[in-house]
Amino acid sequence: AKSKYNKLHLHLCDHQGFSYFSDVYPDLPLSPGTTYTKDDLREIVSYAGMFGIDVIPEIDLPGHSTAIISSYPELSCRKLQIPVETKQGIFDDVLCIGDENTLQFVYELLDEIIPLFPYENFHIGGDEVKYRRWENCPKCTAKKQELGFDNFSQLQWHFTKQVIDHLNKHGKKAIVWNESLAGGKLTDEATVQMWLDPKKHSVRHANRGGKVITSDFYHYYCDYPYHMTPLRKTYNFNPLLKGVAPVMQKNVLGVEAPLWTEYVCDFDKLCYMFFPRIAAVAEVGWSKKENLDCAEFEKRFRKITPILENIGIHPAKPEEWNPTPLQRLSGTVKFFSDKISVDLLKSSLSNSKK
Ligand code: ACM
Ligand code: ZN
Repeated sequence: AKSKYNKLHLHLCDHQGFSYFSDVYPDLPLSPGTTYTKDDLREIVSYAGMFGIDVIPEIDLPGHSTAIISSYPELSCRKLQIPVETKQGIFDDVLCIGDENTLQFVYELLDEIIPLFPYENFHIGGDEVKYRRWENCPKCTAKKQELGFDNFSQLQWHFTKQVIDHLNKHGKKAIVWNESLAGGKLTDEATVQMWLDPKKHSVRHANRGGKVITSDFYHYYCDYPYHMTPLRKTYNFNPLLKGVAPVMQKNVLGVEAPLWTEYVCDFDKLCYMFFPRIAAVAEVGWSKKENLDCAEFEKRFRKITPILENIGIHPAKPEEWNPTPLQRLSGTVKFFSDKISVDLLKSSLSNSKK
């Protein structure tokens, strides 16, 4: 609220756990971090509401679902029981979307969660879905053939569209990650959240009249170190997205700076990663381009730091905000070398030059 945000996006399910106690699916494995009861979520919604902040839940479908499958293996293509993941990554086992029981599960779960959030938006994920299991699944391949699709992106889109329609029937508007658009077009039924979109689906969506939220991975992801994403790089990124026609720029609804918590385990680390970058993203979101000036922002942020410190938020120190090119290289390598795959490291280094 102090940074003038008006939405809080809560990502409630993933490969590593499920952060919500479900009555209809009580075996969903609880996340090792925070797990919310219905009352917890109501309390968050009510507290955030006092500061003018809407809470948007996300149930990520049909990928990022190892946790669901570990308890309900019948919802996967192989029907095999697998353990909940404990590392960050993109994993092969996803929900079987050739099986009608999967949609039944999704509808029941969403119907339980929808009444907890009084706002219009509901996020249904759609990112980083691997097709390997679908390619080898009799039900998924038969469904693809029956529907006359050429590829599995179209089948993912078909599944997503049904979930979007279900939400629309409940008076909700879906938000999906940009990969959902690889197999089909949407316009007004859903908002697209752009994060990593080399094929520019989000730009085409905005140019068709659809709504977009900008969360560019290389500029706005606050779970990555300042070495990879310096403050100045974040501040100077134009969220209106290259390629969106001037008359369609109104379709870029706003900005979001995500922070995933696989490697952020406490509040102090969260604040360090977020501040000042999250304040920079908000300033860009609320300002006209001609009024933006990163050096000015840095000066003002130093002045307000004591206010944040007073409420227990300890931002990164000014000398950490904009590392030199050499510091950036060594810090990025160090971060990835203990954590993530070589492929992602290569792609990050090539993009950190931009
Ligand atoms: C994402 O960060 N996988 C949306
Ligand atoms: Zn399947």
